[in-house]
Amino acid sequence: MSLEQEIRTLRDERNAVILAHNYQRPEVQEVADFVGDSLYLSRKAVESAKPVIVFAGVRFMAETAKILNPSRTVLLPDPKAGCGLADAITADQLRTWKGEHPGAVVVAYINTSAEVKAESDYCCTSSNAEEIIRRIPADQEILFLPDVFLGEYVRRKTGRKIHLWMGDCPVHAKLRPEDLERARAAHPGAPIVAHPECGCSTQAMDHVDRVLSTDGMVRFAEETRAPEVIVATEVGILHRMRKLNPGTKFTPLSEGAICPFMKEIDLTDVRDSLARNQYVIDVEPETAAKARRALERMIAS
Ligand code: 13P
Ligand code: SF4
Repeated sequence: MSLEQEIRTLRDERNAVILAHNYQRPEVQEVADFVGDSLYLSRKAVESAKPVIVFAGVRFMAETAKILNPSRTVLLPDPKAGCGLADAITADQLRTWKGEHPGAVVVAYINTSAEVKAESDYCCTSSNAEEIIRRIPADQEILFLPDVFLGEYVRRKTGRKIHLWMGDCPVHAKLRPEDLERARAAHPGAPIVAHPECGCSTQAMDHVDRVLSTDGMVRFAEETRAPEVIVATEVGILHRMRKLNPGTKFTPLSEGAICPFMKEIDLTDVRDSLARNQYVIDVEPETAAKARRALERMIAS
């Protein structure tokens, strides 16, 4: 029996759903029941009635699924699948920051620990950050964390008074405005789509055709008739784009934009996860209860 068949058999025996993020390895995406961005996968985790959720993504995504579905078993197939951006702020640092801005509303990107979410008023993803900020009364001071580039992007889009935490994603921060200029010159006429975590998305917003979440980029890929598109994000997304639209050439802005955390999980890990019930994600109930309010506002948007 192939590994893929073994995974499907185990999945059915355990009555599990397999969720995979757009940056996962192609073969992991292929065995998943649902592939998408962090907002889509959070919603799928809630909608699916299955008692076991295998989350092929990174820890904050699996924690989010557990917080939203406390009675279900959530498995992260490799415990090393963390996130450099989520590590950019601790709950203690956030408490200190809140102390400096009494009364401010805290908006946390989903790329944060459960403890940081528990200290936050709203969570958002790259799909709905702008919409969530617009829901907050206009005179309200806002603390946005931890991604400075996404925060700066929504600050410019909304014109709101937003204080930014100076964190960044080690993969996206390396994609710079100079890379965009080079790509424009080397691929004249090719549209450029960029993730808002990119170090190039704000300073060079005018040079990018669309700033989109990973699912936004996948939808763009599906619909475009351009002969070539430049893709400024982690390279794992190219698998879905090329599969959905073989008529367009999808060129990464940087071949080196590889998230080591997203690549921790392979097919053997997914198989072992189902076979051995590992690695179970638990969130302390009091922390989960506090974090749930901010997350429910995120998925309701
Ligand atoms: P998306 O929500 O756009 O999939 O982004 C998640 C992420 O970790 C990007 O680095
Ligand atoms: Fe975290 Fe960056 Fe990897 Fe996304 S690409 S999971 S933000 S380290």
